[in-house]
Amino acid sequence: AHPFRVGVAGLGTVGAAALKIIARQDNALTERAGRAIRVTAVSARDRSRDRGHDLSRYRWFDDPVALARSDEVDCVVELMGGADGPAKAVVETAIEHGKHVVTANKALLARHGLDLARRAEERGVALAFEASAAGGIPVVKTLREALAGNRITRIYGILNGTCNYILSRMESDGLDFATCLAAAQKLGYAEADPTFDIGGFDTAHKLALLTSLAFGTEIDAQSIYVEGIEKITPLDLKMADELGFRIKLLGVAERSEAGIEQRVHPTMVPKSSAIAQVMGVTNAVTIDADAVRELTLIGPGAGGDATASAVVSDIADVASGTVSPPFGRPTARLDKAERAPMQRH
Ligand code: HSE
Repeated sequence: AHPFRVGVAGLGTVGAAALKIIARQDNALTERAGRAIRVTAVSARDRSRDRGHDLSRYRWFDDPVALARSDEVDCVVELMGGADGPAKAVVETAIEHGKHVVTANKALLARHGLDLARRAEERGVALAFEASAAGGIPVVKTLREALAGNRITRIYGILNGTCNYILSRMESDGLDFATCLAAAQKLGYAEADPTFDIGGFDTAHKLALLTSLAFGTEIDAQSIYVEGIEKITPLDLKMADELGFRIKLLGVAERSEAGIEQRVHPTMVPKSSAIAQVMGVTNAVTIDADAVRELTLIGPGAGGDATASAVVSDIADVASGTVSPPFGRPTARLDKAERAPMQRH
């Protein structure tokens, strides 16, 4: 078989890590993909930055949209981020030109996922997004494939590493919010605008995608009630501790009489629960379902290598032709009533 030709748009930590994993050409990966995976083209804002990887073997594009329509790629990997602007143009152009798309862009999918999924379906190309929710945790695959026989009643989790890191440090070291946020930003996991993290919007983007997969609803981040962690103090954490609880920023989606309810807010969780044990930048997702009962996945929700792990797995799926259609047509109803909307994010 011909090699599967990949173009990578966006060479931040995730893009650079994905190039390195693919360059190893491991047998297991080639076998899974059914053919060799070859990166043929790359694009980023800054060509000269040292990424610890020789880029001269790839064709360079200053313009990622030109990469997205290049005859030299079968699959465009979009790792630029942002709900609108260049990332959206890259994904739309790729689909229009009959190329498969792999993306880690939760903000883009939360806003335009259904439209992009329709376009991809019409063009007969894949739109894969394992890396867009909970980074290295294979939660998209789990919901779609492993739990296909289940009726899911609830899904909830820690979906933002930056917030969990801040809450963990505030609790363990008694440090104030601002100090912990600064430390989290130094780790490099925070969004370019950390309001997306601490305000709960990044969690809401990811939750909207998981809700759609878990319950067969439309993707709707706009109607999610969102409360961030900005107002949490070390005293709150201490008082929760005395009562036997930890405070975690959770994204929750569950069935109710009115439909599927989605919300994001700081939540008291019993210290004995699996999710309370999760400290630092780690993410966790718990799924309650009728057949499997309760399942918790814990792992790195951000970071170059971990997120690249999900990106490469998607590339292999697409190369082998085994990727499922992105989002089904909505079959269940969301409960959008009486809650403050997520507004501009
Ligand atoms: N800012 C995100 C986080 C990165 O802290 O979890 C992964 O989406």
